[in-house]
This record gives sequence, C-alpha cells and structure tokens, in this order.
Amino acid sequence: MCGIVGYIGAAQAADIILEGLSRLEYRGYDSAGMAIFDGEKINISKSVGRLKVLEEMTHNGETMPGCVGIGHTRWATHGVPNTVNAHPHFNRSETITLVHNGIIENYIALKEMLKKKGYEFATDTDTEVVVQLLDYYYKGDPMEAITKVLQRVQGSYAFGIIFAEHPDRIYAVRKDSPLIVGRSKDGCFIASDVPAILKYTRKVFYVDNQEIAVLFKDDLRFYSIDAEEITKDEVFIEWDAKAAEKGGYEHFMLKEMYEQPKTVTDTFSPRIKDGKIVIDDLNMTDEELAAVKKIHIVACGSAYHAGVTGKYVIEDLARIPVEVDLASEFRYRNPILEEGAMVIVISQSGETADTLAALRESKEKGFRVLGIVNVVGSSIAREADSVMYTWAGPEIAVATTKAYSAQLVALYLLAMKMAYVKGKIDDVELDSMIEDLKCIPSQIELLLGNEKRIQRFANRYVGAKDIFFIGRGIDYSIALEGSLKLKEISYVHSEAYAAGELKHGTISLIEKGTLVTAIATQPQLYAKTVSNIVEVKSRGAFVLAVTTEGNDEIEKNADYVIYIPQTNPLFMNSLAIIPLQMFGYYVSVGKGYDADHPRNLAKSVTVE
Ligand code: AGP
Repeated sequence: MCGIVGYIGAAQAADIILEGLSRLEYRGYDSAGMAIFDGEKINISKSVGRLKVLEEMTHNGETMPGCVGIGHTRWATHGVPNTVNAHPHFNRSETITLVHNGIIENYIALKEMLKKKGYEFATDTDTEVVVQLLDYYYKGDPMEAITKVLQRVQGSYAFGIIFAEHPDRIYAVRKDSPLIVGRSKDGCFIASDVPAILKYTRKVFYVDNQEIAVLFKDDLRFYSIDAEEITKDEVFIEWDAKAAEKGGYEHFMLKEMYEQPKTVTDTFSPRIKDGKIVIDDLNMTDEELAAVKKIHIVACGSAYHAGVTGKYVIEDLARIPVEVDLASEFRYRNPILEEGAMVIVISQSGETADTLAALRESKEKGFRVLGIVNVVGSSIAREADSVMYTWAGPEIAVATTKAYSAQLVALYLLAMKMAYVKGKIDDVELDSMIEDLKCIPSQIELLLGNEKRIQRFANRYVGAKDIFFIGRGIDYSIALEGSLKLKEISYVHSEAYAAGELKHGTISLIEKGTLVTAIATQPQLYAKTVSNIVEVKSRGAFVLAVTTEGNDEIEKNADYVIYIPQTNPLFMNSLAIIPLQMFGYYVSVGKGYDADHPRNLAKSVTVE
C-alpha cells in the first residue's frame, strides 16, 4: 500500500526520494508526491498515475532543490486518486507537511472538531485531519504537538513530518503500519520498506508502535509516546542489493519465479542437519511440539492457500487436526482456541493488517503463535512467539511466487518434524522425505524450462472470459493458488473448485471452449479427478491437465497435458504450481498488462 521515503542530509533530497519511491512501486499506488524544504519554505509537487509523471514534472527532482524532504506513493482509501488527495499534505499556513500510510479511523470526529475551530479542508482524505491537528496543537515545540496528536488519533499510521520552523529534522512515527529508519554517513532516511534505502545504507532501525524517531542530518534519536528518549538497536541488513533489481528480466514476477529453486533450498537446507529436521527458530522442545493437539493456520491470499496445503500435509503426516482460516474472518468470529492449540500465522510481508490482528487476538487469548514470515523485523515477526523465516529475500512483484514456494517448504518441514517427534513417521520415512525435498529445486528448474511451451499455450487464452481450476485434496489447494495467480494479474475471471463439488452448481457455467485446468497429481484421487475431466469435456470444455509423469492415459481425456516429475505426493504443490504461475504471467503479458503492477492491488495490505 502507500509508500513513504524521507531524507535529511548532505545530498539533494528529491533525488533520493524519487529513487526510493521507485523501489516501493511494487507496493501499489495511484498517485505520488514529495515535499522539499528549499532553505526558506516547503515546496510540494504531486501527480496522479505513475511515478514517472512526478519525475517529469520536477525534471527528475531538479526543480525541487533542498536537502530535507519527504515523499509518498498513495494507494487511495479515503478520497479518489487525484492530485489534491495525493500526499504530502499541508497545514493551513503551509508550514507543516506530512505523509501518511494507514487509516485514521476517527477522522470524521476530528474533522468536525477542527471545523468548529475554523479549520477548512482541501482534501477528502483522512490524512489531512492529522496535519491540521498538528497545526492546532503546535505552539513552537514539534514534539509536544506530535505527542498530543498521537493521543487523539485512532487507527493505523506511519507518518513522516516536516516543520518549516525546524527544518533541521524530520519526525517519523508509526502504529500498525510499517516504517523503518536508516542511517548512513551522508544522512538519515525513513522508508516503508528496506529496498527503498538499500542503495544508501544497510544500517536500519525498526520503529516500534508509537515510537517517535527524530532524524537530523548527522544524528538520530528515538522517543516514546511520552517524549522520553529511548535507545534502539541498529540492525544490519544482509540482503543482496541485486535481489531488489530486475536483473535483465522483463518483470520482477518472472525473475522471482526463476529464483524459486534457490528460495526452496535456502528455506530447507539450514534446517536439515545430520539427516534430521532442526527448526531452531521454533524455540520449542520436541516434547512441547509433540504436545500440540490442534493447529489453527491463519493467513490471507496466497499465504492462506499455502496454509490449505499445510493442513493436508500436517494432518496426513502428523495426524494433528488443522483448521485453516482467512485472517479477515478469523479475527471477527470469536474463534474457539482449545487447550493445547497452536496458532500459525503465515505472511510474506509480515505486515498484513488482518493477519497481524489475528495474531494479536490469539495472543490475547493466551495461545502460542508461530509466524511463518519472509520479512525480517516486520510486525508479525516481532510480535509472534516464535518465527520461522522463509528465506526468499525481497519479493517485489505484487503476485507472490517465490515467497509462496518458501511458505510451502516451511510447512512441509514443520509437518515432518511434528510427525517425527510424535512417532508418526520413522527414520526411514523421514530420510525418504528429506531426499524428495532435496530434489525439488532441480525439479522446479526442469519445469521452468517449459516456459516457451506455456507461453504459447497462454497466448491462446488471452481472450478468455472465464477459466476454471479444479482438483481434489492437495490438488484443490494448488487450484486455489493457480486461479488467484491468473486473475490477479491478467484480470480474467477465474474460479477454483474442489473437483467433486462441480456437479453441485458450477458445472452449469461450462460451455463449449471454456478452459478448465484440472490438477491430478494425487495418486489416490487421480481416477476421481479424471471422471470430473470427462464430465466437463462432455459439456464442451477444453481441458488442460496437470498430472505426474507416467499418467499418459490422461491424454485420452484431456486436450493438453503438462507433466510434473514424481515426488512425494504431499510435496506436489511445489512442482505443479510452477506451470500455473507461468500461465498466469503469460496471459497477463499477452494482454499487454504490467504483471508487476496489477490494477487496484497492493503488495502489502496494511489496512483491513
Ligand atoms: C498473492 O499473489 C497476493 N499478492 C496476496 O494474495 C498476498 O498473498 C496476501 O495479500 C497476503 O500477503 P502477505 O503474505 O504479505 O501477508
């Protein structure tokens, strides 16, 4: 969602802000803007659409000189995407400016209060209320005004603020929206995410909820909401800066698909030691793990789909009942968390508002929460009782691929470990599964080698109106993710159905030529899914089958077949999802869309 970048130091702020915002484009936005102090006053430029409009408007920042500034990419929540509603916003005397990521929930009440005091509002945003409230409380001391404002505003926020009367500093504060602060020998930075400032520094501080950071050109201080100075630990970011570059690929999404063999290896290899699974980051003894009676997996979007696969794998291997919930449902359904239950939240960004709320709800109820998270230092990583990191590195494309693959592997490891400590699998079975796991990266490479064939097939479907994905068991969870990959970037309507459920309504949508992608990788369900293929075929569907090598007789019923190498059936998702990701990507490319920046979507959904 919204992206924030701010800089104070010796260099020109506009250059750094534009560069940093370009690194946050993946978050999704509809307008952009920046505010720079020019030595006398604050100047603001804003534009609708892509960042390049702002770059052109400001001649790549040249028309906005100054060494102190804040910038923003806005993903509209309150007020349509236009220049007026774009950030930064000014107070009435244009002496305080602010950028915001999040939602101010009580903005209507605050607006009414300020209107009665004579304030007028230029925008439809919730954010403008905050800058006017700062104006209201500001009597010469920015910290006093900020702490008063923080006591009044409700909701989620990351703010970057400049006061024209104090141009030697930037103020930054957050609650439930991400914000980091960085430091280099040339100045200090604020950003919504690490890639925005990775070019300038690897030394960052994670601002905690309701902490205030004050950035000077050669100093950095942190305060509590009561304005008491606090100390914070600097974190050194190990990420390879190249990981956040396209590296010659047309899109980040394609690059990230090709990174999956490495991602999978990086996620499992440090956790396999001497033929055993060692998940140090769990912080749980084998006895504690064996005592888990029930698991609740909670997540959103693709992370939820990984959780659905996780349910099948954990239940099958460890014989522990697993419930999977969408975080947006879980948090409001007053879930029953039984004695001995463990909650697993899955999130690439570690900032998804609903998932974070589910985590808090579970902790409040006294349950142990394990986070499967990609972004180190993110809110979920910091608040969970233990964290199993998916070592996928920065994922830039809005449509997740490599982080999803890493989530699957983390869940397999957990399932295998739990099964082993509970005595449900022996050494021989564990060894065999580890061997299968170790083959997955090279099998993914092999499947990526089908790129051209899948591109040709995808080109035939760029005009499709509806595409269905069907499967049973784990194949159903693969269908869910395959369908989401397609629809989110190609805007083709698509649905995933449990194949056995088709006859209960959905089959009426099948007509001559409708593409049905049938996933049939699970040996015990294969014949059942083939029957469903026959049913849709006889109603005119064109069937793309994804099945394992050796199932050649499927060609009698399906029109087009993609074969997947053999592995443990429980790990099939890791292989079968590859051609489906590629299919979604190439339908999007074939339609001329920017697969990295799908309309209306944001990479990290920090509001509910
Ligand atoms: C998937 O391609 C989407 N970008 C989306 O469904 C995503 O998985 C979901 O928003 C959850 O995000 P998270 O993993 O960062 O929590």
